[in-house]
Amino acid sequence: MPTADQIKSLIHSHFTEDQERFYTIALQMAAHEARQGHSSLAMDIRRIVDEERKKSGPKLLSFPKELQGLVLTEEPMTGIQSLVIPTEIQNRLKRVVHEYRQQEKLKSHGLSHRRKLLLMGPPGTGKTMTARVLAHELGLSLHTIQVDRLVTKFMGETAAKLRQIFDLIRQEHGVYLFDEFDAIGGDRSTDNDVGEMRRVLNAFLQFIDQDTSDSLIVAATNTPRLLDPALFRRFDDVITYDHPSSGERKTLIRNLLTRFMAKNFAWNQVLAVSEGLSHAEIDHACRDAVKNAILSDKTKISASDLLVTLRERKSTTTAQKG
Ligand SMILES: Nc1ncnc2c1ncn2[C@@H]1O[C@H](COP(=O)(O)OP(=O)(O)OP(=O)(O)O)[C@@H](O)[C@H]1O
Ligand SMILES: [Mg+2]
Repeated sequence: MPTADQIKSLIHSHFTEDQERFYTIALQMAAHEARQGHSSLAMDIRRIVDEERKKSGPKLLSFPKELQGLVLTEEPMTGIQSLVIPTEIQNRLKRVVHEYRQQEKLKSHGLSHRRKLLLMGPPGTGKTMTARVLAHELGLSLHTIQVDRLVTKFMGETAAKLRQIFDLIRQEHGVYLFDEFDAIGGDRSTDNDVGEMRRVLNAFLQFIDQDTSDSLIVAATNTPRLLDPALFRRFDDVITYDHPSSGERKTLIRNLLTRFMAKNFAWNQVLAVSEGLSHAEIDHACRDAVKNAILSDKTKISASDLLVTLRERKSTTTAQKG
């Protein structure tokens, strides 16, 4: 049974039309029930609240004024099947989804679901996409924090904004992505600036450490060099992404060319030329090939058509690296 205070607050919030408060109390009741071991009732309450919230749309988000422009919110539609990654990573992501769905069961045994993830790896290998997929699979909104805008010259100001973001994480259930979160230090050269950077990072990691909300926190980076290895243990999962293997390139290309793919597709050269390209670059080359086919009224794309756009991508990448 909910406590007397909860019932009174619930009734009060109904008559004062304070919808946010109503939701909060309902969730507190769910947590209370979960602690009593009534996990299926707790799940039902949560589900009702989540569904009603979704119906009323993102306008319910009560972002403080200071955070406007710092957090972008979207409702992603990307399913887990479109993510081409090794089975091992796929299983780890499925475990995050599974534990999230079973969180009340875990809580009733004093355990918490895994919800702090660090994704590392080269550009264009699916880190941001993973955050979208997780949000979609869990039916949650994705809130991306614009890390570069968050950090200002003044440590105090940055820490204050970080605190507001973590308040939001506690209040607004969702997936929160701190994208490229260590890139903020990328072009700072003096020792002083690096020291400042480390302080910001440490503050961030401390907030992560203290966070006990139900939201999912995803931090993504392609330059983990600034991170102290001891900090990795603050995350429930550290997942490393890489360029696609030959088998993954095949799947990716098949997924992207779909009905345009020629019947006798000569894979050998395509797989050789696409080696070392990221998923994003292959994605780009495939879309270019599809565009070329449409514009020249062709219904099929052969391996040699794709080789043209793959080589184009490859030369762009080499030029950037060189
Ligand atoms: N593993 C993947 N499977 C399928 N498509 C992918 C994958 N990785 C990347 N893509 C495609 O490339 C696009 C860009 O990828 P994404 O933004 O996830 O890269 P990232 O790892 O976050 O890169 P960065 O480090 O530059 O932020 C995706 O929107 C998707 O179209
Ligand atoms: Mg990204």
